[in-house]
Amino acid sequence: MTTVLITGCDYGIGYEFARQYAEAGYRVHAICLEAASREKIAGIAGDVHFHVLDVSDQNATGALAETLKDQPIDILINNAATFAPDGPGTLKLPDIDEFMRVMKINAAAPIYVSAAFEEHVAASEKKLLVFIGTHSGSIGDNTSGGHYAYRCSKTALNMAAKSLSYDFTGRGIRTVALHPGSVASETRKGGQIPVQDSVSGMRHVIDGLDREASGVFLRYDGGSIEW
Ligand SMILES: NC(=O)c1ccc[n+]([C@@H]2O[C@H](COP(=O)([O-])OP(=O)(O)OC[C@H]3O[C@@H](n4cnc5c(N)ncnc54)[C@H](OP(=O)(O)O)[C@@H]3O)[C@@H](O)[C@H]2O)c1
Repeated sequence: MTTVLITGCDYGIGYEFARQYAEAGYRVHAICLEAASREKIAGIAGDVHFHVLDVSDQNATGALAETLKDQPIDILINNAATFAPDGPGTLKLPDIDEFMRVMKINAAAPIYVSAAFEEHVAASEKKLLVFIGTHSGSIGDNTSGGHYAYRCSKTALNMAAKSLSYDFTGRGIRTVALHPGSVASETRKGGQIPVQDSVSGMRHVIDGLDREASGVFLRYDGGSIEW
């Protein structure tokens, strides 16, 4: 059975990925930050498995990988992320500890999650690592500055997606970074694209990825985006 593991399924894009993949008949491992999200995930019809994990907890990540050992994972979607509120001053920097919290969750954790689940992905049919990035992490697309913690964390995530595409070549594992668009979801009212459309677009991009494509950065509508 084609299996997908998604981080950050409590809300928004992660939850919608879980819902759509379950509806499409995939086995879904839905990873949530909060134990309280169990009931919500249980409401999704299909072969859905609920797990609680703070992706920045390396030991807990390793323990979950061990629990799921021998279970091939076709598509691992590193979706969980956080944001830092603006701080004071011209650059509006958050406190440096808050900056590093964002770097840890958004940039470092997806690398450690991907490493922990390397064997599961390598043992699967599709062998695909997905990183939910953002155009805010694109250096080429940066025309406005600001949001230092979030931007820097997502630029670092892009680097991880690219480097892992080389380091995992021998294992047949491909990587892709995706920009979901400016998405309206239950936690983010200001976006323009309905979360259902963003996620169905990204699923379409994932399905249509060239067998040779790895280390690429694409929009939810399939367009490419500068690193
Ligand atoms: N929405 C947009 O327009 C947009 C645009 C560009 C990129 N993105 C990217 O798309 C992804 C999803 O965004 P979203 O809009 O759906 O945001 P969201 O609603 O805030 O969802 C993020 C999810 O990650 C979870 N999470 C946060 N820290 C975590 C941790 N340490 N361990 C495990 N889970 C954790 C959150 O749980 P809690 O809510 O319980 O904290 C939440 O379920 C993110 O990578 C984001 O950067 C979004």
